[in-house]
Amino acid sequence: MDKLRIRGGVPLEGEVYVSGAKNAALPIMCAALLTAEPLALGNVPQLMDVRTMAKLLRQMGVEASPLADGRMTLRAARITDPTAPYDLVKTMRASVLVLGALLARGGRARVSLPGGCAIGLRPVDQHVKGLQAMGAAITIEHGYMNAAARSPERGLHGARIVMDMVTVTGTENLLMAATLAEGTTLIENAAREPEVVDLARCLVAMGARIEGAGSDVIRVQGVRSLRGAEHTVMRDRIETGTYLAAAAATGGRIRLHGAAPETLDATLEKLREAGARIRINGSTVELEGGGRPRAVSVRTAPYPGFATDMQAQFMALAAIAQGSAVITETIFENRFMHALELQRLGADIAIQGNSAVVRGVERLQGASVMATDLRASAGLVVAGLVADGETIVERIYHLDRGYEALERKLSGLGARVARVG
Ligand code: EPZ
Repeated sequence: MDKLRIRGGVPLEGEVYVSGAKNAALPIMCAALLTAEPLALGNVPQLMDVRTMAKLLRQMGVEASPLADGRMTLRAARITDPTAPYDLVKTMRASVLVLGALLARGGRARVSLPGGCAIGLRPVDQHVKGLQAMGAAITIEHGYMNAAARSPERGLHGARIVMDMVTVTGTENLLMAATLAEGTTLIENAAREPEVVDLARCLVAMGARIEGAGSDVIRVQGVRSLRGAEHTVMRDRIETGTYLAAAAATGGRIRLHGAAPETLDATLEKLREAGARIRINGSTVELEGGGRPRAVSVRTAPYPGFATDMQAQFMALAAIAQGSAVITETIFENRFMHALELQRLGADIAIQGNSAVVRGVERLQGASVMATDLRASAGLVVAGLVADGETIVERIYHLDRGYEALERKLSGLGARVARVG
């Protein structure tokens, strides 16, 4: 199984281009299920999860062109089998995003429950609750959600849905379902993430009537059908934040092109607090590390708060910072697995409930560490780039799920990284 070998201690220097966003591309690919016409996508990242989603859609009868130069065309002229099987869903929870679109388009769906996850329980009760409010009958049998609209002809109907908590894919699933529902749907306490806004932009290009995306109340006026469209997927704010944190941790100086700095406020603010100098020029973000970073405490929250997907990278930054930081995780119950691995590199971290107290140390020492999930592995890479000697990050298939061409991009910034078998 592939590992990443990192010889640390080199300040990152140079330029890198930001890829398309995984967490926007996945729901947008599912939007293709809502129309019989082609959906032509641009800036789709070359990632394991994108390949898994394409495979899932093909199994349903969707024509999916190969991904080339970030371009892919999807066409769901006919949905031959509205099923998302366990063997795919277990590898990628985002597969649940087909549920709302399948129900809205064809009136029925059979989607495996995602099951447990390394970072938390992650139930889908809010997805189910919202679709039931829109008239879907959903039963759970043998690990599958069997869902059916009132009737294929009548389909779903509009509803007022108040989410019990902010859920990103929950909001996206209901948003897609509501586009073809009869009447008006209100999604309250909706997720405000930029990826939700990007999905809404694509749906509007397909003819959907949506207001309020990006706010906590989204209003959708259902239409009878949607058409094909062209859409360019937004830039990946978490990939951007990861490179910036790595540059700050190594005391480097990098320039990121094609970024979306307006989606990164909380992250940029914390990097400045850590002592980094940041210049923004349109879609270019330049960061210059200011020597040893200052310790900054973070508390994760739904957008526009500090992203939970940046938490591990900031724990690695805090591990070598001047002073102590408190990292509080409020979104997922079990998202500190990387802390134990960082301790293997010599980090001083004490976990207390959903907070980690990180006392910065002068130096980390390279060692073998185990990736447990996508962002945890990004945190270990940041630490490995700083540590003395060699760090071996195992199970990097987690990284391949969400970071396009990571070794090539890091090597381009002067890092000494290599994938080893
Ligand atoms: C999305 O996951 C992202 N994934 C995650 O990124 C990200 O960490 C998360 O949002 C939070 O920002 C994609 O967009 C594909 P949630 P999602 O539903 O939608 C609870 C990455 O690294 N909840 O917003 O699955 C849930 O357990 C991934 O790229 C319910 O209780 O997250 C969690 O505690 C990891 N019931 C909280 O809400 C529900 O029905 C927020 O989860 C739904 C969610």
